[in-house]
Amino acid sequence: MTAKRLLNITESATLRISNLASELKSQGKDIISFSLGEPDFTTPSHIIDAAKASLDRGDTHYTPSPGIPELRKAIAEKLKVENKIETKPGNVIVTPGAKQAIFEVMLSVLQEGDEAILFDPAWVSYDPCIQLAGARTVWAPTSRDNGFSPENIGESVTKKTKLIVINSPCNPTGGVYSKETLKEIADIAIDNNILVLSDEIYEKIIYDMKHISIGAMDGMQDLTITVNGFSKAYAMTGWRLGYVCAPKEIYEQMLKLHSHSVSQATSFVQYAGLAALKGDQAPVTAMVSEFKKRRDLLIKGLEKLGIKSGRPDGAFYAFADVSKYGSGEKVAELLLNKAFVATTPGSAFGEAGNDYIRISYATSQERIKEALKRMEAVL
Ligand SMILES: Cc1ncc(COP(=O)(O)O)c(C=O)c1O
Repeated sequence: MTAKRLLNITESATLRISNLASELKSQGKDIISFSLGEPDFTTPSHIIDAAKASLDRGDTHYTPSPGIPELRKAIAEKLKVENKIETKPGNVIVTPGAKQAIFEVMLSVLQEGDEAILFDPAWVSYDPCIQLAGARTVWAPTSRDNGFSPENIGESVTKKTKLIVINSPCNPTGGVYSKETLKEIADIAIDNNILVLSDEIYEKIIYDMKHISIGAMDGMQDLTITVNGFSKAYAMTGWRLGYVCAPKEIYEQMLKLHSHSVSQATSFVQYAGLAALKGDQAPVTAMVSEFKKRRDLLIKGLEKLGIKSGRPDGAFYAFADVSKYGSGEKVAELLLNKAFVATTPGSAFGEAGNDYIRISYATSQERIKEALKRMEAVL
């Protein structure tokens, strides 16, 4: 009774682990969750207040499908000032989460016979979206020794390549692409007329490096689709708010999909997003500084266990090489069942992750210390 297009799509592995963890929790086990990709902080209060004020004002009706004009203007301004991307409000669609934006991009630009390049390992939802669009994923290699940066990119390009997906800072590795890597990708995109989807959702969660948007590079304006959102930077995962900025031709196709499916992002949530962009950025800085402390604590603890995780310069993930103890799957299972520490096997993100587990350190320093103790005992 069901459509073929979904039969090969698997359930999100990150959610599967968190379901298992919830089951153990319901049996009374004290689970430390290193598996979910969401900040543990509460949304800053001025953003919550803006949503309340919006509801009190009566913003409970449909908004224009691409979003309220004030927010699209603020996003275009942000992209111009912070990211140096030349764009206009008319190129921006506000979406219920960055995930919806990514889905709309894939369905708007890819079709049967097309190939899309993902750098292995990559976030869990890109590949299913590519498949749903009827296209084929080409997994391109990355260098383990160089923070999982892409290598020999040109070798994965064929006449069928339509899209390259990049995600810096990266989920699952925490890696941040250097300017040279981005330039190499840009040159390949320009030479072969390939679109680039740049998922910049972790741009603010970056430590000693500077975020660079590929859409700002020479010649990339008409080839880049930039996706971003509020979930990670402003601890707003549950609000579902993201956006996409695309060249006009692509924007127009995406808008058809957007208006015929979700219609719009929730009205009062869009006003909250406006407050996030326009308001005090101090809470973001405070969260990033706490993430950095946690990263350092975790990396040091892992090193003691003989587990290497490179040096994640961004996001809130460590991609830890556990090959000394077994495959990522085996070690994740052991840690969950014996240490009650929930991590994600690296294989969920592509074959390159087989020897790894992803550790999300979006949890308190106390819990990180406790988890390290338990891991040491079990390993
Ligand atoms: C790389 C990446 N892109 C996009 C998303 C989706 O974010 P949102 O909550 O805005 O849909 C996530 C969430 O985990 C992510 O890790």
